[in-house]
Amino acid sequence: MTQTPVARFPTARPRRWRATPAHRRLVAETTLHAGALVLPLFVGEDLAEPAPIPSMPGVVRHTRDSLRAAAEQAADAGLGGVMLFGVPAAKDCEGSGAWDPHGILNRAIADLVGTVGDATLVMADLCLDEFTDHGHCGVLGADGAGRSVVDNDATLGRYALMAQAQAAAGAHVVGTSGMMDGQVGAVRDALDSDGRHDVAVLAYAAKYASAFYGPFREAVDSCLGADPSGPADRASYQQDPANVREALREVRLDVAEGADAVMVKPAGSYLDVVAAVRAAVEVPVAAYQVSGEMAMVEAAAERGWIDRDRAITETLLSIRRAGADIVLTYWALEVARSATRPIPSRVGAVSGGTLQS
Ligand code: PBG
Repeated sequence: MTQTPVARFPTARPRRWRATPAHRRLVAETTLHAGALVLPLFVGEDLAEPAPIPSMPGVVRHTRDSLRAAAEQAADAGLGGVMLFGVPAAKDCEGSGAWDPHGILNRAIADLVGTVGDATLVMADLCLDEFTDHGHCGVLGADGAGRSVVDNDATLGRYALMAQAQAAAGAHVVGTSGMMDGQVGAVRDALDSDGRHDVAVLAYAAKYASAFYGPFREAVDSCLGADPSGPADRASYQQDPANVREALREVRLDVAEGADAVMVKPAGSYLDVVAAVRAAVEVPVAAYQVSGEMAMVEAAAERGWIDRDRAITETLLSIRRAGADIVLTYWALEVARSATRPIPSRVGAVSGGTLQS
């Protein structure tokens, strides 16, 4: 009886594939191609010029004009899409600016679709928090004990109106990000009743109550916590960072309600969730590398504590390796532009030494 030989040193040399950049490129299991990346964009109402967001270096709150230019750059770079957030000048307790056809978000969607056409996908955040004067993702009500809560079912009707307004403005994809139960079904029904079977729903299915959203709240001028009679945080609707099975339940519910893709958010601290979701469903899986994830790398790089470009690539490769088909990242444009640089030829030079070294 012959035994199968076990390959071992020196016949097994995994380092062969690591010898040069060209070797490594050939066997890379994970890539960061532009088509998988989505750039989040912010547009402000009544801005005279783009307003930088200090905690997100390089990111601005756009004017309608500068937004159009940014979307053109995204399309030219071959990005998969842009995800649009609107920052209205006036907010109210219902968030009515969200479904006003003349509201900043809906106007900006129409601007972008008019600018990029079908060259890249125009996605819109479908949530009330930028539009409410209390900063919550839904309307407020009271529970049986008289406590102030975010009223799930009253919120769904507003999301339905918002979906219809975004579709009417031309959005290709709507991103349901409020973590209300039943929101995907409500939005799908609303779109279909307007004959908009073509508009896709990207469900923020597993969105955690995260400290990493800090810089974003500055970006959108969030009023969260401003109304002391409302809940202080989002923990009664966004998920507990302790849970992963709960994320799978959320994801399956969203798919059953008609989600065309599901998202995990944040990304970097939730790679196990990304991997579990990828294994659980067939629809595309997205992951959102959020503002705080960006800010940590930028801040450390600014102090010279970390190699910025390598850290960016590593964070994004990790998210893709965990199973995300689509990655939302504030670095999308920069990464897309540098992703497919040819390796310079070094004839005669041995880079990286020999296998024996
Ligand atoms: C809510 C929303 C949030 C983000 C995008 N949409 C989070 C929140 O305020 O709870 C966070 C994005 C980021 O931090 O980059 N509609």
